[in-house]
Amino acid sequence: MRYVVTGAAGFVGSHLSDALLAGGDEVVAVDCLTDYYDPAEKEENALGLDLVRLDLADADLDLDGVDGVFHLAGQPGVRSFGDAFPLYVRRNVIATQRVLESASRAGVRVVFASSSSIYGNAERYPTPEDARPQPISPYGITKLACEHLVRAYGVDAVTLRYFTVYGPRQRPDMLFRRVCDALRDGTTFEVYGSGAQSRSFTEVGDAVAATIAAMKEAPAGALYNVGGGDEASVVEAIALLERVSGRSLDVRRVDPARGDVARTKADVTRIRDELGWSPRVPLADGLPRMWSWASARVAAR
Ligand code: UGA
Repeated sequence: MRYVVTGAAGFVGSHLSDALLAGGDEVVAVDCLTDYYDPAEKEENALGLDLVRLDLADADLDLDGVDGVFHLAGQPGVRSFGDAFPLYVRRNVIATQRVLESASRAGVRVVFASSSSIYGNAERYPTPEDARPQPISPYGITKLACEHLVRAYGVDAVTLRYFTVYGPRQRPDMLFRRVCDALRDGTTFEVYGSGAQSRSFTEVGDAVAATIAAMKEAPAGALYNVGGGDEASVVEAIALLERVSGRSLDVRRVDPARGDVARTKADVTRIRDELGWSPRVPLADGLPRMWSWASARVAAR
């Protein structure tokens, strides 16, 4: 099959593209290499791909001969208050609306990458898909708007709510990546608030497996949580990585970050029952992989 992957040079998108190619599918790898973080890092992610540089907020997506679109491009990051809001609107809401226009004209399936951040401080834990969405970050609000667009367009689509994905190539603004970089370089890591906030972390290979299953096996209109792996607080996560690396982290506490939720924990009953997916990689296996990738990066420099 021939698939478009938007955001193919990003963290999850590049792993997804690699996995599709390894499975014998063709990939049209689309990315506009925004400068949310160093584009050189994205080019590194996309080394095995033939990148098509397209800004989805104003360019048209040619879906001729394409069997489906994995729409992972967007402006990420929950700590999203401030002047960047127009970028969140453009790269999430407007880009998604245009992808949906193209997909609806071509009649192809879209798998849309949404986020656990649409739950905000969730109604209940573990959080099922029918919990009331109440995002507390501008980012989460744009992701929820995209979910509504997907529904409004009525195209053949599957929406996935990823829960804090980690692994090699993780974005440099995210927790595990920052901790690894600080352990490697001997620099100071800043904990936002008490560090008691916790996440249901999802290993990137698990996230990719769920994403491919969504395209190939899910019923049209499905909506799934993709998470449910080990839960850990920031303080616990740091201790785990200290153990894995054999180093100790210099930590400084700073103010809590606006837009950060206190806890995420996914209820993955629905995706388990319908697609047979459940998270397989515990932190005990995923974190050593993350650390060896981060150390290899420095060794390669
Ligand atoms: C992550 C992604 O950044 C979002 O793009 C994604 O939509 C979201 O997961 C999701 O899956 O819903 P987040 O959960 O904030 O958002 O992931 P991290 O950036 O890895 O942060 C995890 C925790 O570490 C947060 O509680 C944050 O307060 C803490 N943190 C992070 C710090 O204390 N210091 C830092 O420098 C970075």
